[in-house]
Amino acid sequence: MLIRVLGSGAGGGFPQWNCNCGNCRRLRRGEINAQPRTQSSIAVSSDGTKWVLFNASPDIRFQLEANPPLQPKEGVRDTGIGAVVLIDAQIDHTTGLLILRESNRPLELYCADPVYEDLTSGFPVLTMLEHYCGVNRHPVPLDGRAFRIPGFPDLQFSGHALKSKAPPYSPHRNDPYPGDNIGVVVEEISTGRKLYYAPGLGEIEPHVFEAMQQVDCLLVDGTFWTDDEMAQVGSPKKAREIGHLPQSDTGGMIEVLDRVPEKTRKILIHINNTNPILDEDSPQRRRLIDAGIEVAYDSMEIEL
Ligand code: MLT
Ligand code: MN
Ligand code: ZN
Repeated sequence: MLIRVLGSGAGGGFPQWNCNCGNCRRLRRGEINAQPRTQSSIAVSSDGTKWVLFNASPDIRFQLEANPPLQPKEGVRDTGIGAVVLIDAQIDHTTGLLILRESNRPLELYCADPVYEDLTSGFPVLTMLEHYCGVNRHPVPLDGRAFRIPGFPDLQFSGHALKSKAPPYSPHRNDPYPGDNIGVVVEEISTGRKLYYAPGLGEIEPHVFEAMQQVDCLLVDGTFWTDDEMAQVGSPKKAREIGHLPQSDTGGMIEVLDRVPEKTRKILIHINNTNPILDEDSPQRRRLIDAGIEVAYDSMEIEL
């Protein structure tokens, strides 16, 4: 199985347009050993030709230009993207659907029911796309039942609900539904190799931990180092409140990953621009290295 990290940053990217935090400021001035990061998306393939896009980031146009395997190969209109799976209905994961409007066929879109509801109401991207390429929407089952995507005979997928919150524009913002945010296991059937992808992971429920134990590679929530990290940019929002388990806390992601078998590749993704791990010379980054945890970067290639 081939995985390409298209965007390793959280909403806003790194640097964020209006952010003057230590990381963003130092990146602009060339004073930090760190890579810029676009917003959250990966692509997965078995044959290296057709790819399943996970999330459609507002930065997708640049991401596709930076990743030749996803570019047109034949005919006057073509793409390496065969289908799109959405993890949630957040802006950083869905706005890129509008950028794909020139598609010469409807987008094959897989998402859970609450995400479909949000994207046809509070943020009606899918309704808008009906005036362009249109969308063939397929529900993602939330009971872990495997589902297949036509055109990808060697891949199978299974999704489950995560504890989270719907986006601010969701009609059920204060009334979370299972499926507002999902984790997905992707298995390559011929090799049995498995990936677990969950860029927004607020709580490690038993079914989540079980999935994490059974795969070869984890690409999981790396948004924040501490729960109160947003205080430095004047925001009262706590990491856990907005559905992101911080890394360094008691019961945080580092401790969780420590209980995952050593042979599993453990990679953090969806890194917020405030996170000190972006500085490759920081003590926080050193702590991850010592724990055997990698940090995803844009255009990272993973072969399982
Ligand atoms: C999140 O995952 O919490 C989002 O990145 C927030 C956002 O995009 O505004
Ligand atoms: Mn996000
Ligand atoms: Zn910043």
